[in-house]
Amino acid sequence: AFPPLVFSGVQPTGNLHLGNYLGAIRRWVALQEANRCLFCVVDLHAITVWQEPDSLERSIREVAAAFIASGIDTTAHVLFNQSRVPEHAELAWIFNCVARLGWMERMTQFKEKAGRDRERASLGLFAYPSLMAADILAYRATMVPVGEDQKQHIELTRDIAAKFNHDYSLRVAALGLGRPIAMGEEVVQGYFPLAEPLIEGPATRVMSLKDGAKKMSKSDPSDLSRINLTDDPETIARKIRKAKTDPDALPTEIDGLKGRPEADNLVGIFAALADRSKAEVLAEYGGRPFSEFKPALADLAVEKLGPIAGEMRRIMADPAEIDRTLRDGAERAREIASATLSDVKRIVGL
Ligand code: ADP
Ligand code: NA
Repeated sequence: AFPPLVFSGVQPTGNLHLGNYLGAIRRWVALQEANRCLFCVVDLHAITVWQEPDSLERSIREVAAAFIASGIDTTAHVLFNQSRVPEHAELAWIFNCVARLGWMERMTQFKEKAGRDRERASLGLFAYPSLMAADILAYRATMVPVGEDQKQHIELTRDIAAKFNHDYSLRVAALGLGRPIAMGEEVVQGYFPLAEPLIEGPATRVMSLKDGAKKMSKSDPSDLSRINLTDDPETIARKIRKAKTDPDALPTEIDGLKGRPEADNLVGIFAALADRSKAEVLAEYGGRPFSEFKPALADLAVEKLGPIAGEMRRIMADPAEIDRTLRDGAERAREIASATLSDVKRIVGL
């Protein structure tokens, strides 16, 4: 009932890494062949924790450059930054009044990012998932390709959509704005679709190279923990050589990766970069030591990431062109988002 539409985003918080690429950006390139897509640099999310203004400006362009360098088609699809489409923030306010405090309190990302010192966490960090729901639902997007860490937030987006649909069902029907939505066995009328998270492939949660229990993250203080998209070939090779592993050879079967998080992580990265399954990678490398596997992984990573880094540098050399692309994207995004917001205001009675 809702036309298929893809929405996804990345925060401009510096240090774009292999996890962002394999878990999200790379998959967008495949999805854009068959779907209408909106790709967003989510700068309003970034400021939920402190950002130096100068580096924020640079990071916004850098994330946009990474999308373009990875193969996002900005003519056929829409690339923009969140703060240029004010409807996101406006719809988020309405969703703040739909979402329940208890739902937000269950969000594990807030607990992780706020840590024990809630007194010092921003209110924006707490409300983050409500803005994320607005990002997605401003376009009534149906598919959201993300890494595993975003699963709970997409579920919250669905909860907000379902509660809005339910609370305003009579009004939506009276205004003739409803569309059929499958809710389990039942089909109901509603204004917002229940967006599906697309979390697939061997790299939905790339782990730190230093600690197999932590996800690879932009904010990890150790640069050796992650491969940045802008790393040069020598740096990529060195980080993979130094990556933590156990002393055993690679297993020949998937089951043999159980209880070996570092080995599992490196095999998953290899599989994702090579467009193969983990089983296929083990069929080739099973029984061989990490001293053989790591150089092969480093070569593959350099082969796949090197051209992206080069392209990013080329694109970053012309900031005005990036700004033009983002401005054009924002205009096209606004056409959709403003129509949604005027419907929503009528529905709510504003
Ligand atoms: P980060 O978590 O690194 O700050 P974002 O929150 O901007 O990055 O996430 C951008 C996208 O990258 C999201 O879809 C997120 O799920 C994905 N992502 C982030 N880290 C990883 C990871 N370690 N493995 C796989 N996907 C990831
Ligand atoms: Na994240």
